[in-house]
Amino acid sequence: MRINKYIAASGVCSRRKADELIETGKVKINGQILREAGYQVKDGDVVIVSGEVIQPIKSHTYILLNKPKGVITSVKDDRGRLTVLDLLAENPDIIDRAPRLFPVGRLDFDTSGILLLTDDGDLTYRLTHPKHEFPKTYHALVQGVISRERELKLIRGVDIGGFVTSKARVRTLKVKSNTSLVEITIHEGKNRQVRKMFDAVGNPVIELKRVAFGEIQLGHLKEGACRKLTKKEFEYLTNI
Ligand code: URA
Repeated sequence: MRINKYIAASGVCSRRKADELIETGKVKINGQILREAGYQVKDGDVVIVSGEVIQPIKSHTYILLNKPKGVITSVKDDRGRLTVLDLLAENPDIIDRAPRLFPVGRLDFDTSGILLLTDDGDLTYRLTHPKHEFPKTYHALVQGVISRERELKLIRGVDIGGFVTSKARVRTLKVKSNTSLVEITIHEGKNRQVRKMFDAVGNPVIELKRVAFGEIQLGHLKEGACRKLTKKEFEYLTNI
């Protein structure tokens, strides 16, 4: 198995991140720093990443969390803020079984909603790589009324500062007291993308919640609660 895949399959990080670890000399094979990005791991090789021996995990864990606002999408935080992994700590069975869980992509500190955590680096790579254009759906409560013209701008793509977004699906669900609740599905994951898209059309976001990750729905999962993927959801994701 190619070294970056071996590292990802061990639950350390994604393949892309593994390539960076190799480049920066953090990977050793049988005691020697690895210099060859395409190295094929052989039976009996001892692979060390950042000083720790690693081995591919035989079965992975997949958890869906309803991330509340005020929690950071990270494994740890040097400023002591609550992380998504701190929320999982209330489920010691999950943490004991899968100590290397990490979030797939990210939600802003002030965004709530569905977030997948896994120790499957390969799946993470596929779901977050721009070429797969994996869809994510949000409910955005925004200021003002979204005219059809603005809706069309969001659908066709807007400039969010040096980047024009690709086609989105947009529909207004409700208009009330000069605010609109809008459902939007995007296929990229630029930093604060949805907020920037609504800023670009003049309707700043008040509240943002991710309600679906591909075809997987947030449903009635309570804020801060988590659950395992169903068999059907697992099959859907692994066939992406
Ligand atoms: N877009 C945003 O603006 N924020 C998120 O958290 C996710 C998508």
